[in-house]
Amino acid sequence: MKASAWQSLLLLIILSSSCCLSANAGAGDHHELQRFMVVPTSSLKHIPEDATCSGHKVIPSNGTAWVPMNRPHGPCSSTSSRASEDMGIDVDDMLMWDQLRTSYIRTQLSTHVGVVGGGMPVIARSTTVSNRDYTPSSTASVGTNSGTSKTIEKSDQTATNEHQDAVSQTVVVDTSSDIPWVQCLPCPIPQCHLQKDPLYDPAKSSTFAPIPCGSPACKELGSSYGNGCSPTTDECKYIVNYGDGKATTGTYVTDTLTMSPTIVVKDFRFGCSHAVRGSFSNQNAGILALGGGRGSLLEQTADAYGNAFSYCIPKPSSAGFLSLGGPVEASLKFSYTPLIKNKHAPTFYIVHLEAIIVAGKQLVVPPTAFATGAVMDSGAVVTQLPPQVYAALRAAFRSAMAAYGPLAAPVRNLDTCYDFTHFPEVKVPKVSLVFAGGATLDLEPASIILDGCLAFAATPSEESVGFIGNVQQQTYEVLYDVGGGKVGFRRGAC
Ligand SMILES: *[C@@H]1O[C@H](CO)[C@@H](O)[C@H](O)[C@H]1NC(C)=O
Repeated sequence: MKASAWQSLLLLIILSSSCCLSANAGAGDHHELQRFMVVPTSSLKHIPEDATCSGHKVIPSNGTAWVPMNRPHGPCSSTSSRASEDMGIDVDDMLMWDQLRTSYIRTQLSTHVGVVGGGMPVIARSTTVSNRDYTPSSTASVGTNSGTSKTIEKSDQTATNEHQDAVSQTVVVDTSSDIPWVQCLPCPIPQCHLQKDPLYDPAKSSTFAPIPCGSPACKELGSSYGNGCSPTTDECKYIVNYGDGKATTGTYVTDTLTMSPTIVVKDFRFGCSHAVRGSFSNQNAGILALGGGRGSLLEQTADAYGNAFSYCIPKPSSAGFLSLGGPVEASLKFSYTPLIKNKHAPTFYIVHLEAIIVAGKQLVVPPTAFATGAVMDSGAVVTQLPPQVYAALRAAFRSAMAAYGPLAAPVRNLDTCYDFTHFPEVKVPKVSLVFAGGATLDLEPASIILDGCLAFAATPSEESVGFIGNVQQQTYEVLYDVGGGKVGFRRGAC
């Protein structure tokens, strides 16, 4: 704090999974066109060959209050340095982490769950999980700052005021945890992991402050995130254990977070991580937690930004965004579904599916089939449905895809896979996910097929909570209007 230099951290965002390309209507009669989409087979590769990494297609709903968000692997990743290595996503590995993440969230849910009226899961404990390696990331900055939003501006600032300027940090975006953190000096390897961005150095920031042990902010960490006090310094210690075996611990601190010229959060509380456990690959600096619980970026900015945020998860061939605040114009075309939250475990965002339409026909399942709800999650890769719903979807999909011959070998938990090698194009049945209230995700081919497989899986039992995966969310602006109790979708956003 005594140092005169000014330093900020920048945060970036990363999303899970890998994906795909756009739908071109092919030949066929009008009726067929309403039920199927014909796309070049090459567009279904998880890393398309013709990536342009072009930006998003709409103005984010809150105008200028946004930061770029990219997938962690592939041509548009901000942390991929060695293209050849990063281009090769191991889909099987990605799905394994996806299973670890989602089963941990599910464990947290079922441990304390009762099913209350309406079949809504009761979540009695908050939790933190992140499939970092495959989750979308974004960049922002933390520290004393005069509005810097990009590393590029660094040299100008340094020249004019002699202060060390903001340090850009690329971080993973996680909607299912509450404590944001970045790696922080001192940070020796192997206690810390390698990261691409320069490490945040609190000593160089005049706005940095440790949070004292006895403060309300420290007590708020509770038994889930609190890690006691440092007896010599009276500093608050935090710890986050992620369900996939990863963890971070260090000092709980405040500094100025600059995500964009219009998003500057003073006295932003976050973990200054001096040690991690498990492999945080991808060289990201940390995690930007956007859960609904205490301590998350959402909770810290709720007053200024209306308790809402949105993002557009891009296909690997393009760029998306993370935006704070709700839509500035009521005319923006979002369709909405109620957001279910439990006050005992506010971290998770739960929505209810009501129907699935495949090739123009609604799946026939009992009305109660969707009763457990689904976690809307930036980190889950594939959508997970109750077994009877998944079975109906799979049957309808396989029947529509009969022309592509016998099934290929399964990939991890994806059991409906095809070898499209000898087909120049693929006729994919349209799939729409219809939520309570009528909000609908009309899926593009790349949101239906992942690496040749139907990008959906079954939950372990009819009672298990489901997930809406980021493969299915991609290209939509997904608005978490937590204050308004609803989730909105706007198509074609990135
Ligand atoms: C949109 O962002 C601005 C900052 O650019 C913020 O002041 C405003 O509250 C946000 N609007 C909404 C509706 O959240």
